[in-house]
Amino acid sequence: MKDQLRREWVALMQEGVHGQATRFRLRATRLSQLMRTVSPELAAALASGLAETSALTRLAPTAGPAEVPDLLSVEAEPILSAMPHWPRSVAAELRQIVYEWHAQDALITAGLHPIKTALLHGPPGVGKTLAARWLAIELGMPLATLNLAATMNSYLGKTGQNLTKVLGYARTHACVLFLDEFDALGKRRSDDQDVGELKRIVNVLLQAVDQWSGPSLLVAATNHESLLDTAIVRRFEATIEFPAPSSQQVGSVLKSLGVPPSLATSLGRRLQGQPISNATRLVTAARKRAVLGQIDFEAALEIMVAEQFKAQSQVESRRNVVATLHEAGKSAHQIAKELGVSHTTVLRDLKVISED
Ligand SMILES: Nc1ncnc2c1ncn2[C@@H]1O[C@H](COP(=O)(O)OP(=O)(O)O)[C@@H](O)[C@H]1O
Ligand SMILES: [Mg+2]
Repeated sequence: MKDQLRREWVALMQEGVHGQATRFRLRATRLSQLMRTVSPELAAALASGLAETSALTRLAPTAGPAEVPDLLSVEAEPILSAMPHWPRSVAAELRQIVYEWHAQDALITAGLHPIKTALLHGPPGVGKTLAARWLAIELGMPLATLNLAATMNSYLGKTGQNLTKVLGYARTHACVLFLDEFDALGKRRSDDQDVGELKRIVNVLLQAVDQWSGPSLLVAATNHESLLDTAIVRRFEATIEFPAPSSQQVGSVLKSLGVPPSLATSLGRRLQGQPISNATRLVTAARKRAVLGQIDFEAALEIMVAEQFKAQSQVESRRNVVATLHEAGKSAHQIAKELGVSHTTVLRDLKVISED
């Protein structure tokens, strides 16, 4: 107990000096609980002191908002938009990261360190962004998100500068640095002039991942792991695969959103393999219909799911026809006229067909 208290006090002071407000607050709360057995009066005084400050003041962060680099969005106290439901393998790997961070003192004493870099990959809408948020909350750190796709769209010279600033920020400010759409790195087509700069940017990132140290956890996410160079993937200490959602997973999410168990189970079966975000969107839409149109929520939900399937199969059959006509040598204009759809729809279909 004494040892633990001593460690906690030292850590608390270090966090205070470094201005790690969220961690400081969490540790101070834990300390006041630990102190209860040793000195109830001091514990009570600590707790009430903390309560007083919580509403009014926050410890000054090491850098003010003005120093946050362009395109980096920092949420000091991230919140979850939904209760996450991950497959057991994913949950276990995420929990391991949290566990190692909470036990980092023991690891560091043994010359080790907690997992500092993680790559999350899997289809869209299965909870990767949710996982980054969840990690930030569990670790008591702000969430700093950089959307790489957006960054890469800007002028490359600027991209490089921005990235360097963002990495520098995370090296001096404890946070979960979340690099979303990480594959954008490999996707950018560049003209000859840009090639050197692009290589430089990729190298900066590779080195950063390789040698990541300091107070932050680096989390990258991608929907297209296959687009990433294996040289990049193997640099991460943890690679977590988010599989396409199973019927149980979708069912659990639906249940947690208030869908009655038997309906959740049957819809889970129908919506498995699709983005979970899709299922949550249908629930919201159904709830709105129920509120506005006085339709029963369950009936509305079943109708919405059926409508979605109908729309999907319509799109699929139209695409088959477009593909056949295209193979027969018809132009997009001719196909559009023949099917009575817009030229843009045909172009979009052709693009999807060519990507398949
Ligand atoms: N595993 C999950 N558990 C609960 N809700 C989920 C899950 N995955 C996705 N969702 C819902 O879909 C939304 C979008 O998910 P998100 O984490 O952004 O997906 P990704 O980053 O994998 O594309 C979430 O805000 C949540 O409402
Ligand atoms: Mg995402």
